[in-house]
Amino acid sequence: MPLDGRELVLGVTGSIAAYKAVVLLRELTRQGARVTVCLTEHARRFVGDLTFRTLSGRPVLTDLFDPRSDEAVEHVALAERAAAVVVAPATANVLAKAAHGIADDFLTTVLLAARGPVLMAPAMDGGMWEHPAVMANVAVLRQRGVTVMEPEAGPLASGLSGRGRLPEPETIVEALVALLSPRDLAGERVLVTAGPTREAIDPVRYISNRSSGKMGFQLAAAALRRGAAVTLVSGPTALRPPSGAVFVPIETAEEMREAVLQHAAAATIVIKAAAVGDYRVKRPAATKIKGKQDLTLDLTPNPDILAEVAARRSGATFIVGFAAETHDVAAHARGKLESKGVDLLVANDVSRAGIGFDADDNEVLLIDRWGGSRALPKMSKAAVADEILSAVLALRARAVPARR
Ligand code: PMT
Repeated sequence: MPLDGRELVLGVTGSIAAYKAVVLLRELTRQGARVTVCLTEHARRFVGDLTFRTLSGRPVLTDLFDPRSDEAVEHVALAERAAAVVVAPATANVLAKAAHGIADDFLTTVLLAARGPVLMAPAMDGGMWEHPAVMANVAVLRQRGVTVMEPEAGPLASGLSGRGRLPEPETIVEALVALLSPRDLAGERVLVTAGPTREAIDPVRYISNRSSGKMGFQLAAAALRRGAAVTLVSGPTALRPPSGAVFVPIETAEEMREAVLQHAAAATIVIKAAAVGDYRVKRPAATKIKGKQDLTLDLTPNPDILAEVAARRSGATFIVGFAAETHDVAAHARGKLESKGVDLLVANDVSRAGIGFDADDNEVLLIDRWGGSRALPKMSKAAVADEILSAVLALRARAVPARR
């Protein structure tokens, strides 16, 4: 996990959104981060030390001159040790202090001493975010390399509505993970397909498969973290598209084909993790099919999108296909590598519980068209996604110059 074992400082300032920092802290520690929380005096009026202390397992720091705290005198060491400092919520006040180098409490002193990346997630009431003073402070911070997230629009604590809501904790975690990830895909345009397709039988029924979209969504998220511009074409899933991706929702294989062909021309890497239905109903009924008699569906094959993309590509596009198999995985995967004309094939056994369809983990075999193959042990789909992207970079560095 990208945050595993990372030392972080979480700064919490005085906003009603401070309660969301508790959820954020829980998520950071769940992902393996070791977090020291710095509360401002104003934040303590909204949420108590004890909650943060219990969840982080560490003392909570507020006062630079707290005689009971060893850590208080070690603010510089703490700031230097931190892989990143996250301030959430960040009020207009802390943005102003950080922009002007004011260090009058523990958090603002840590911000001055920090050596790693700083991520600030603003939260403030109606109109404040747009105020020229706040905008100017944000511009100064961004210019200095601080990542200041855009607050979200919606109802605010005052009863007003506008831009000023703290981004959701999961969005803040995504931004932090991106900040701490290598940017080795900067400049790449990655097209990922995910999820199942649905083929109508009649207006209420369809043929589909067990794909949850998790594998494809993790690939899109990993590519974004690593600096790529990402387009995610997905069939219906219960997942939230990663923020920052261009999201293209589709239902049928033909809709997926259209979306993929439209975006593939501009992509440098295409990854087809979607479980595309091999067949569709030839003539779906216009009205709901009634009756209890036997029913035969006349099916016709769907276009093979992956093979078509591979056939149409320019020399510089790297193409990754998947193979979902239930037996003789390696042999079938090798067949698909050749018949579909891809550069890298990711094979998984979808008959096994705990991997493949709708699981959080996967265990895959990577086979490339230059004769290499590598079996990866079972790991999270997020980790598999990173392995696939690293394999693409390594293979392309070796092979593409010859093809261009
Ligand atoms: O979504 P999850 O629940 O996380 O599950 C992940 C997964 C099991 C769906 C994923 O890991 C996976 O194996 N995806 C490929 C599923 C599939 O359709 O495999 P296939 O062996 O039938 O197809 C081979 C390749 O051709 C795939 O890249 C597929 O996207 C593509 N294809 C298939 C048929 C078709 N008509 N057009 C295609 O482009």
